[in-house]
Amino acid sequence: MTFPTAPAPDVEWTKLGLAVTDMVNGHIESTYSVEEGKWTAPKFIEDPYLRVHGLSTALNYGQQVYEGLKAYRTQSGKIQIFRPAFHAARMQHSADVVSIPPVPIDHFIAAVNAAVVGFPPYESGAALYIRPVLFGSSGHLALTPPSEYTLCVYVQPFSSYHGTAPLPAVTLEEFDRAAPKGTGHAKIGGNYAPVMKWSKHAMKAGFPMTLHLDSKTGEDIDEFSTSGFMGVKITQQEGGAEQVVLVVPKSDNIINSVTSDSLMAIGKGLDYQVEHRTVKYAELSTFSEVMAVGTAACLVPIRSITHQSRGDYFVYTTEGAAGPVCQKLYAELTSLQRGDREDSLKWCHEV
Ligand code: COI
Repeated sequence: MTFPTAPAPDVEWTKLGLAVTDMVNGHIESTYSVEEGKWTAPKFIEDPYLRVHGLSTALNYGQQVYEGLKAYRTQSGKIQIFRPAFHAARMQHSADVVSIPPVPIDHFIAAVNAAVVGFPPYESGAALYIRPVLFGSSGHLALTPPSEYTLCVYVQPFSSYHGTAPLPAVTLEEFDRAAPKGTGHAKIGGNYAPVMKWSKHAMKAGFPMTLHLDSKTGEDIDEFSTSGFMGVKITQQEGGAEQVVLVVPKSDNIINSVTSDSLMAIGKGLDYQVEHRTVKYAELSTFSEVMAVGTAACLVPIRSITHQSRGDYFVYTTEGAAGPVCQKLYAELTSLQRGDREDSLKWCHEV
């Protein structure tokens, strides 16, 4: 198996965004046969393209799930992946939703480890984005689970999805991302593709970020299309001291965000209060900061949130920079991911 080589020279690591580059020449693959009941050893395929049956359940019925993880090179040259076991467990959850057999946690981590090559150097601040994708791969026309599944792991060097400058957001009113009792909690492609045309419209109208409210009442905050939601409230304690409160939506219709989970734990360590609960739309006016948080997004400060039909426009910053809580959380999370501070919670997995 090939393991991390020296970083490629002449790459503008900080300008990569989330673009797919041809710097990575293949992917890791492992298959599962229902008859044999086991996964094959992960192997490197020197080709980014896949050989999949055209009548596969993935292509025809959307029997597919994916994950997104990040890995960094530390200052001392080691390579570490952020919370792979959390991602593995989340993939098992998503797989169950679309009747795919679970990938054992150790197998997932072995496949991810094997994919990790071509690392951005420490100084660049760039990361390796890891994209495991799992799907029904055999030809199968009946609406029942097929006999073969494939796990692939792709990697791409990347800097950040949305950048770090504050961005305006709009609530999506024309389209509901997740039905009540639906699949909004699973990281399946079917939750993402239908958003594309609406985010394109929103982008044209000047809103690079799109926010989903719950589809039943339109009164609760669910998540951004690409990332989780986090609000910041500042309350006054007795004696006048300010208390930072992180407010994070809890809902059956959203992805269990690794980044939100990590930031809530980091926030508690900073003596912030953390409220993980239903978050009302009406509370948008009470936040001093709002962030979009996710693996690819990292922490994106939200400049404003517009709700067109209600005529609402909530402004969180008019400066060109993130607010103080966002800056603090960003520094804490990235220093942990980059190996610059003690990993007391044992979140970083050394390759
Ligand atoms: C991630 O943050 O890893 C995701 O999968 C979100 C995707 C829209 C890029």
